[in-house]
Amino acid sequence: MTTPAIEVRDLVKRYRKGTANAVDGVSFDVEPGQFFALLGPNGAGKTTTIAILTTTLSPTSGTVRICGHDVVREASLVRRQAGIIFQNASLDMNLTGEENVRIHAILYNLYPYRPIYRLMPGAYRQQLRELADVVGLGADVFKPVKRLSGGMRRKLEIIRGLMHHPRVLFLDEPTSGLDTASRRNLWQYIRELRRRHDITICLTTHQLDEAEEADRVCILDHGHVVALGTPQHVKSQLAHDRLYIDALDRAALRSRLVEMQVPFSEDGVFVVELDGRTAHEVVRAIDEPLTVLRTESPTLEDAYLRILAAGDE
Ligand SMILES: Nc1ncnc2c1ncn2[C@@H]1O[C@H](COP(=O)(O)OP(=O)(O)OP(=O)(O)O)[C@@H](O)[C@H]1O
Ligand SMILES: [Mg+2]
Repeated sequence: MTTPAIEVRDLVKRYRKGTANAVDGVSFDVEPGQFFALLGPNGAGKTTTIAILTTTLSPTSGTVRICGHDVVREASLVRRQAGIIFQNASLDMNLTGEENVRIHAILYNLYPYRPIYRLMPGAYRQQLRELADVVGLGADVFKPVKRLSGGMRRKLEIIRGLMHHPRVLFLDEPTSGLDTASRRNLWQYIRELRRRHDITICLTTHQLDEAEEADRVCILDHGHVVALGTPQHVKSQLAHDRLYIDALDRAALRSRLVEMQVPFSEDGVFVVELDGRTAHEVVRAIDEPLTVLRTESPTLEDAYLRILAAGDE
């Protein structure tokens, strides 16, 4: 059996005594090389979980191992394996972008640095240039951070998080604030990293389409795991295929659907939830000539909204 890249057991985090647990008994595993997406509404506990997994916050109870190393007892080994791209900017505004990256590289002891010459080795400059090109920051990396836009700062964080070739990369809403082209570039690069270096990705996002290609997703709500599995599994458990139909005589179609006791809603056309029935069975039972007829499979977003709605009931 291989050691999981991420192993989380009964993780609990309470920020202050007497308050609710921000993370409340969370368990999951991520295998090496997998792409794992942590989803959930604002305040669900995603950032708290990632902070514990990357050793920037200590757990109240439970255990977490990254590549087999305990985040509490072996924090420095974990830091060497893990890269993080934070949700909130953590850049020094008084420095240039490159200086921010350099400090990180020195702190992590990534490259042999000779303070006498104040020189970073060629490998550093090459990696910096490559990453700056990937995210589309280019030569702007050498500008003072305070003169960069929000999206450009985000790109700088991404560069910094990737400098030390992490085995496990944590990204807390990496694409928020990025324009469409930069978002696509970043995704291409992440795919490339996975393919070439077998890197494990743990991502949080509110863009559900970004999680569609995850190997597994975990949905958190109020600090609890409310769904865990492949996107396909989560979808099939919680959302059905849908049948979109319409007729010239809409009133007749509506009363027929009521009569058939199929769950449906109206959204311009009639939307029938195919829970257990096939589209064919439903259509065959309708006498009205149909003007619209198509089916659609649920997206992860459909399933996600349903899961959270069920939790609020
Ligand atoms: N430093 C803190 N001190 C006290 N409570 C905190 C702190 N950070 C977060 N919380 C609380 O913990 C809970 C989980 O917050 P967290 O930031 O982990 O959510 P999230 O899932 O990342 O949300 P978002 O999607 O908005 O980023 C929230 O109720 C939040 O108010
Ligand atoms: Mg967050």
